Amino acid sequence: MIVLGIESSCDDTSVALIDMSDTHLTILAEKTASQIEVHKKYGGVVPEIAGRKHAEYIMPVVEEVLNGQPTPEAIAVTSGPGLITGLLVGVEVAKTLSYLWDVPLVSVNHLEGHIRSVEIAANGPIQTPALCLIASGGHTELILLSNEGDYTCIGKTRDDAAGEAFDKVAKLLGFEYPGGPKISKFAAEGSPHAIHFPRPMMDTDTVDFSFSGLKTAALYWLQDHTLSAMKLDAHTLPVGVSGISPGPATIHDFCASFEQAIVDVLVAKTIFAAKTHTPASIILSGGVSANNKLRDTLEQHVARELPRTTCFVPNPKYSMDNAAMIAVAGYYKARQGAYTNWQSIEANPNWKLYPII
Ligand code: KG4
Ligand code: ZN
Repeated sequence: MIVLGIESSCDDTSVALIDMSDTHLTILAEKTASQIEVHKKYGGVVPEIAGRKHAEYIMPVVEEVLNGQPTPEAIAVTSGPGLITGLLVGVEVAKTLSYLWDVPLVSVNHLEGHIRSVEIAANGPIQTPALCLIASGGHTELILLSNEGDYTCIGKTRDDAAGEAFDKVAKLLGFEYPGGPKISKFAAEGSPHAIHFPRPMMDTDTVDFSFSGLKTAALYWLQDHTLSAMKLDAHTLPVGVSGISPGPATIHDFCASFEQAIVDVLVAKTIFAAKTHTPASIILSGGVSANNKLRDTLEQHVARELPRTTCFVPNPKYSMDNAAMIAVAGYYKARQGAYTNWQSIEANPNWKLYPII
């Protein structure tokens, strides 16, 4: 089935055309117009600007992707959760194309897209039941995907998302938005044992997360040790030179220690949940899944502690928001005939993937 995917829930205007069956997956064409450069100067995504930029970028991106390609058999669009300003643009374009081409429409939950993003690297469906850790700027959740395709949330963050914690601490260091990738780049040159940050809720039996205390611990550490360093532009700090003084820790050590604390918690909770629910697959997805330390650590723990479970991580390109993952999630709904009439589809910024009990 040829599926057109449209994603505009945050700051990426993304369109992709895929050809998928139950045994294969090919990306025919894809294009993403990023708005990061525009939002950088505000230190985060500005919803009103995002909406205007999506409206400006989306039709040229659609045209480029469809150039010389067959007409899709289904259109999959992210209709939530996310920024209403962005969702409205994607949903309106999908509605219009559905009406013009007389092609059915599928409404896709953004988180379902992230979960399915691993199938792009796997070249097709993965084995269920699956335990999915979604770690992004807006979400940190452990979700079970059943054989029937139903989702159940078994744990989630009680405050900040993991990506949000990365971004907020990165801001303290003077890194531009989004700071997660920059922290992990600096971390690669530092010692994860240099500073001991707390591992919030690590020793409790719950599989919920909490990252705001860790963020505060990082802030206090900087205040105690580096009040003047906080004013430095970290981009100008040469690699290997101490940006944090006085004291022995470098900015690289700080980043490595902070990253290690987040990774330890995410991995420990995922392994704990997997031992309880015994899934066939473990899926790591969401923007934070681009973090090499997290990918490697989770894969090592699964191989060591759960040898009969397969761990799937997305190709780093598909860790971030993209339309190919939305098209893949749309394929499953289209296959079941779960279409939404173009007259009734609506953007829902608070759409929950699973029932709230
Ligand atoms: O999934 P995503 O593209 O957008 C949301 O739906 O939120 O995730 C973006 C988040 C940001 O918080 C960004 O800092 C984080 O993913 N991120 C990373 C890395 N790459 C992206 N965090 C840590 N290490 C990375 N390498
Ligand atoms: Zn996302």
